[in-house]
Formats: sequence, structure tokens, C-alpha cells
Amino acid sequence: MCGIVGITGVPQVAYPLLEGLRRLEYRGYDSAGIAVAKAGGIVCYKEKGKIKELEEIIDLDDLDASCGIAHTRWATHGQPNRENAHPHLSGKVAVVHNGIIENFGALKVALSNKGYVFHSETDTEVLAHLINDLYRGNLEKAVQQALKLVDGTFGIAVIHADEPRKIVGARRGSPLVVGVGETANYLASDVAAILGHTRQVIYLDDWEMAVLTPEGVTTTNIDNQQITKDIEEITWDLDQIQKGGYAHYMLKEIFEQPDTVLDAFRGRILPATGDVKLGGLELTDWELRSIRRIIILACGTSYHAGLVGEYLIEEYARIPVEVEYASEFRYRSPIIEPGTICLTVSQSGETIDTLEAMREAKRRGAKVIGITNVVGSTIARESESGIYIHAGPEIGVASTKAFTGQVTILTLLTLLLGRRTHISAEKGMQILEELQRIPDKIRQVLDQSDKIREIAKAYAQDHNCLYLGRGVNFPIALEGALKLKEISYIHAEGYPAAEMKHGPIALIDPQMPVVVISTRDGSYEKIRGNVQEVRARHGKIISVVTEGDTEIAALSDHVITIPPTLNMLTPLLSVIPLQLLAYHIAVLRGEDVDQPRNLAKAVTVE
Ligand code: AGP
Repeated sequence: MCGIVGITGVPQVAYPLLEGLRRLEYRGYDSAGIAVAKAGGIVCYKEKGKIKELEEIIDLDDLDASCGIAHTRWATHGQPNRENAHPHLSGKVAVVHNGIIENFGALKVALSNKGYVFHSETDTEVLAHLINDLYRGNLEKAVQQALKLVDGTFGIAVIHADEPRKIVGARRGSPLVVGVGETANYLASDVAAILGHTRQVIYLDDWEMAVLTPEGVTTTNIDNQQITKDIEEITWDLDQIQKGGYAHYMLKEIFEQPDTVLDAFRGRILPATGDVKLGGLELTDWELRSIRRIIILACGTSYHAGLVGEYLIEEYARIPVEVEYASEFRYRSPIIEPGTICLTVSQSGETIDTLEAMREAKRRGAKVIGITNVVGSTIARESESGIYIHAGPEIGVASTKAFTGQVTILTLLTLLLGRRTHISAEKGMQILEELQRIPDKIRQVLDQSDKIREIAKAYAQDHNCLYLGRGVNFPIALEGALKLKEISYIHAEGYPAAEMKHGPIALIDPQMPVVVISTRDGSYEKIRGNVQEVRARHGKIISVVTEGDTEIAALSDHVITIPPTLNMLTPLLSVIPLQLLAYHIAVLRGEDVDQPRNLAKAVTVE
């Protein structure tokens, strides 16, 4: 998720472009750039780091023009550095892009054969060369032809030095909004960048384009047919916009999870063969089949995602897995035999315990694969290969969408490994079909947010809470407890449900809320027994059940339902109610949900 902005018709356009970038920085902040169109050519500056780093290198006189585009990046392809920062240039063309070009590899080969030289590792640079290659004096025509050759998602803004007052924008899958002004017009990823100039906006839909000049805006579809779009009035303030209208980044990120799962498997699934391709892994089929043991290294929420991965990989790929608290692993003398792969799971890619544990595993001969959300992070750079989860920036300290992104990646990895040993093509197809239904099923759970807030009211003043789950839902119980602890400061513990009888059951009384994840799977009868044990001791029961369940529902004080799905995919649904429950309880207690006390988004000190 990057931020793009384009403005035409404002003298010294660099100033409002930079202001627009500052307002979009929450969308991505690892590198930035700006370009203006001048009759003599494109003038462009770009730099690694935040907007202020860019401001330190630019010469505003050099950028003195009235039409330009700018970009703040959240890297997906290629390290955050000056070369990979946007805008990307080709001849007199400059492009800024938000999204992922899936077939950039093939296009890059074709363009290289035509003599185009690539200066970056990005997918976006392909677009600049493609548009330049197709340009015959009319920019929007060249953009239309180029986009017809592209697979993937895009929100783009393009300028050309021979048409120095024109910006062409287009979208498919990534947001793009046009700001209609009196003597100038604007284009941006979201209205945050435009708000200071106009409240009159046009929201572009997929496969729609806009051609902006100072005098006006023309909207067309990708076949250059004019379309009429409504101009809408923005009523929100900046804070609301950056949070997408949600009260907190955490809630916004919880509601982004349908897209998180989609973006995690986008371009990586092969439904026709029930298989998966994870290009960044750089492992041959033979190397995949030679894996003898997997060690997962992580902390906090990422550790819980790792535990889900353990259940899945052992069950479906039949490879032994150990999940290690990275902070413990690094100081133990771990045994690493040949054929051991270490998966290092970290949202930020900067958690020092996980980083050092990874270095220790490497020192002892393990092949290390990073699963992270931040391109160019230390763990990404130091692991031999890796998989990005593509969840976009996660601002809320309490991790939510990164967790579902990590679990989706571990599910894909399970299928990749399993399809080379134990999983049939038919089973693989069934899993992928159901995985593609998960985003909608998550939406069905999110629709219960108001109901979950009502449930939260009954528990917001409690001091303790127990979370129980079995099998692949045990890590979800741990994650639910962590979310509640982190943001509401209520003491909470997650336990394997059967373990309750070996101690925690002593805590059960009418003041003890117990959250039980009791979906319909192989252990249903067992978990129903655990619910009855709590019931018998007058504990307050909140059950997460599969739609249509009546038995456990009848034993519970409050019930939250999730749609039925394959057991291996249940964690992607059962975690959502627990995130929402923790969120609503914390809000009801008046806590600062996005910046909880004593916590940091990335723990970079021991
Ligand atoms: C989770 O909500 C917390 N922010 C914390 O436990 C976090 O998961 C842990 O610090 C690991 O962070 P990482 O995924 O960035 O390595």
C-alpha cells in the first residue's frame, strides 16, 4: 500500500505535492519521490526513507513547474532504496504506482529485448518503459494500450514532458480519487492528500481512467469511451481519512483482513493443479522434498502464527516442526541437523530476538527463510530467501492483519510442501477453492462487530479472562488472550482446552469469563465437554461456534458464530471475533488502543 499524488495547475507544484505526501505517509514510508513535467524533460528526485529525507535532497527551483506527481512507498518488489523509489522514468515518461504488476517478469524480458535498460528491481518500472514504448504523441492512448498488457493491481499517475500540463491516472484494484478544483486538478490514492485543496472529488472504479489538465478532468474507461462520474463532497477530517473512517488504526486493520488474505495469496495460487508458487523461496522441488525438519522462530503474535503453521505443516505436509520463542532459542544450544529449514516469522522484520535467533540458526547451518511484512527489513535482507505477506503498513501496535497474513502464507507453504509429498491435486484444488472463499467469510464475521461490542459490555470491567481452544485453534486462544492483555490490560491466559483440568480450572468461578473456540471439527465432542466443565463451575462462557451450532450455544452466555470452512483454514476466521472482542473491551475501558502502554510496534532492544 503506497501513496500517490498528482497535481496540475498550481505554480511551484512541489510544495503541495510534498504536503500531499506527508498526509499519505501512513500508507507507506520506506522511500519517496517527486517528478515534474517541464518542456525540456522530466525533473525527478527520489530518496530512501521518509518524506523529510526527500525534502533534504531536492532543489525546489529545479522543480519549479505547475504539474507533477509524487509517491511515498511501501515496498513490495525490491529493497527500499533510491533506485527502487518512485517515480520510475523512461524517456520523457514518469510513472508512480500503487499495487502489484503480476506479469512484470515476462514484460521485462520483452522490453529488455527491445533495448530498454532497467535501473530498478521493481515491477513498476515495466510500466514506464511500456508507456514510453507505446507513446505516439497522446499520453492517455499510450497508457490505455499499456494497461491492456498488464495483469495485477494498479493505481497510477503518469506524466510526459511533451504534454507538461497533463496527468493521466488509471485504477484497477488500488484506490484512486480525483480532486476537482477551480484552476487546478488533483489525483491521489485517497482524499487525505487532496483535502487541503478541494472537497469535490470523483472516485474512480476499476478499469477507469482520468485525464487531468488545469482546465478540467475527463474520465474514460480503458477503451477510451467517455464516462460520466458523480462529483462527491468530502465531509471527513484528516484524522478520520487516514483511519479510513474507523476510530482507530487497529479497527481499520481488523476490517482490512479480507484484502489481507487476498493480497497474501494473489498471484501465488495455481487452482488448475491445486498447487502454489512462492517465487521468493528459490527452492527447487527436490530441495522442497529434501526438507527433513522445520524450526519456526518468532515472538509474540508471530509466534502464535508459527504455532498454527506447525499444526498445518505436520498434518498436511508430514514434516516435523518446532516453534521456538526466538528469545529462548538464541541462548540455548540448538541442534541443527542437515535438511533443517528455519522459518523466521516477523511482521516488522526488525525484532531483535528473532533476528539474533535467525543469525544463530544460520551460524549452525540452517537454511533460513524469512516471512515478513516489511520489504528491506533486516530479517528480509539477512534471510537467504523469503516470502512477503503483503499486508501493507500495520500502524496499530496490536498486530491483527499481519497475523492473518502470516497464517495465510503458512497455509500456502503447507500446500506447496504437501503437494510435493502427501497432498493430491484434487485435495489441493479443494483447499484453494475454499481459501478463495475466506475473504468473504471474514466479511461475514466482521459484520458482527456491533454484536461483539454488545457482548464486550458484559466483560469490560472484569480483571481476568481465560481462552480455550483445541488443535489448530489452541494458538488462536493464545492470540486472543494476547490481544486482550495488550490493549485492555486485563490479565488473560490461553490454554489448550484439555489442559484446563490440570490447573486453570481452579480459577473458574462466576467472575471468570472463559472464551472457548469450539468450532465443528474433529475435537467438537471434546471441547463441548470442556464447556460443560466451565458451566458446572458457573464460569461465564463466550463461545465462538460454527454457524448453525446449537449444542454449545445452549451452554454459553454469549455466542459468536463463524461460517463453516475446512479445519485447516478455521484460524483465519476464528481469530477475528477475538480481535474484535479485545478491541471493544479496550475501547469501553477508555484505553489508547493504537498506542498501548509499555509496548512498541517493533521490539528492537533486548
Ligand atoms: C503483537 O500484537 C505485538 N505487537 C507483539 O507481540 C509482536 O507480535 C512481537 O513483538 C513480534 O513482532 P514482529 O512480528 O514484528 O517480529
